[in-house]
Amino acid sequence: MTRKIILDLDTGIDDALAIAYALGSPELDLIGITATYGNVLVEQSVRNSLAVLEILGRTDVPVFIGVSHSRTADSFTPARISALVHGGNGIGEVEIPDARRVAERRSAVDFIIESVHRYGEDLIYIPTGASTNIVAAFEKDPTIMDVMGPIVMMGGALTVEGNVNRWTEANISQDPEAADLLFRSGIEVIMVGLDVTHQTLLTKAGTSTWRDSGTEAGRFYADMTDYYIDFETRAVDIAGCALHDPLAVAVAVDPSLVTLLPINMRVDLEGPTRGRTIGDLAGLANPVKTVGAAVEVDAERFLEEFMTRVGSVLT
Ligand code: RIB
Ligand code: CA
Repeated sequence: MTRKIILDLDTGIDDALAIAYALGSPELDLIGITATYGNVLVEQSVRNSLAVLEILGRTDVPVFIGVSHSRTADSFTPARISALVHGGNGIGEVEIPDARRVAERRSAVDFIIESVHRYGEDLIYIPTGASTNIVAAFEKDPTIMDVMGPIVMMGGALTVEGNVNRWTEANISQDPEAADLLFRSGIEVIMVGLDVTHQTLLTKAGTSTWRDSGTEAGRFYADMTDYYIDFETRAVDIAGCALHDPLAVAVAVDPSLVTLLPINMRVDLEGPTRGRTIGDLAGLANPVKTVGAAVEVDAERFLEEFMTRVGSVLT
């Protein structure tokens, strides 16, 4: 059975890789991309998703513009580090044409609400940026919380340090209040955080196979991803780039790729640890655990799947 999915992206290099992974997965039907902010402004996220979909020949996938900033801020400006990791344009400073189409008129929030009512538990929502859109959808129509399927999110760090500071992972840092509401909403959330994504590294041996294929998509993805690999190997001192967002999509296809710790979670909202994802003392004794935090990953099997699925779309 194919599962309907929505990708909620701050497109970003690894977000673009997640699009390719989803399109290369016959088990998934990507019914839409909702745009959020983080690596880039929400408008640039829309632009990048549309442009990437056009290069991949998938102009049938609609893109919806989401909320532009968290409710605790008046506006959003990408952190300076984002341009170093993803390039100022979010896709490694590689120039690709704007898509010939524009975003849908309906908002991301309305599309999420309509899709949840239409598909119920058959829909998997996969956010790989801020949690702002889904919480805005809960607030606009709380009934979706009763019928929604699982959420597989990329974000957080439970057993390792963050990547914004020692406590905080980037996606959670964009809107800690929204992430906290999501964790404590009672909805099943699979948290694919830095605990596992930092174990999944792609090197230039992988991207060169895309470039060598000679396709436009293969060249673009290789050049874009090499920008990210160059940053990670230089600044983070790891042997490749972490495949954060594609791993969340992979877990939606096959949860057996990771080991999940059942836990009730919350997010620190005050003080220097603001943005930290941690077990919720208030839910410790509750036998019902709503979050599965991924703490182990079969990195070798995931990387094989990644190269096969992404390769099928790019080459
Ligand atoms: O911390 C990694 C996450 O932050 C990824 O989703 C990346 O794309 C950025 O959004
Ligand atoms: Ca992302």
